[in-house]
Amino acid sequence: MNIHIFKNEEDFIQTAASQVTSLLNANPYAKLGLATGSTPVGLYKRLIEMHRQGLVSFAQATTYNLDEYVGLPENHAESYRTFMNEKLFNHIDINIDHTHIPNGNAADPEEECRAYDKMLEENGPVDLQLLGIGHNGHIAFNEPGDSLTSGTHITTLQAKTREANARFFPSIDDVPTHAITMGVGSIMKARQIMLLIRGEDKAEIAKRALTGPISTDCPASLLQCHPNVIVLLDQGAGRLFK
Ligand code: GLP
Repeated sequence: MNIHIFKNEEDFIQTAASQVTSLLNANPYAKLGLATGSTPVGLYKRLIEMHRQGLVSFAQATTYNLDEYVGLPENHAESYRTFMNEKLFNHIDINIDHTHIPNGNAADPEEECRAYDKMLEENGPVDLQLLGIGHNGHIAFNEPGDSLTSGTHITTLQAKTREANARFFPSIDDVPTHAITMGVGSIMKARQIMLLIRGEDKAEIAKRALTGPISTDCPASLLQCHPNVIVLLDQGAGRLFK
């Protein structure tokens, strides 16, 4: 793992953005794996700015998102489709038909999982997979447990995850109980993974995921097995590495 800790926010964001823009400038047809959550928001803002400055185009790119809540209407303010449209897609030159997010309202959710994996298998591998990390070590919505699932699947969100995401909803009761998520196996197929970790509150899980034992109790620790991972930490998240 290639771990970088940044003293200032600007360098953190620009390094993350440069990874994406260098890839697209070298290969305009690149396949990007995208993530939601508050962590990548600064990166998406910077990508929009760089696009406006003519420094990058997404016109030929294809994107695959990691996960989506089950049961939220697609146009719900907190659906990951809405998040991606508002935080990135609506402001760049991407063809919206080339942006893929699991459908959390599919009539047959199991079939939706199979179809998402089939699409990833046929179109993949993803060139660069962006990831954040949950306080419990989850990646996408792969929650810690005795076992992990390789492919796209429906998962029950843990109380800690629903509490963390309650800040985006009127109350915790409004946070969905289930999500559809790419599995760890699908994520690990990416050619390169870029894990972003921000904030003091992520310091402990960052240390555990990056230097602790590889265990399903901390899904992000499996990334230690991937041959091409870059991890960007801000000073707060990296404070236990000194
Ligand atoms: C969410 C997402 C993850 C994300 C994580 C951390 O629930 N499913 O993909 O990485 O939790 O989110 P944040 O960046 O807001 O801390």
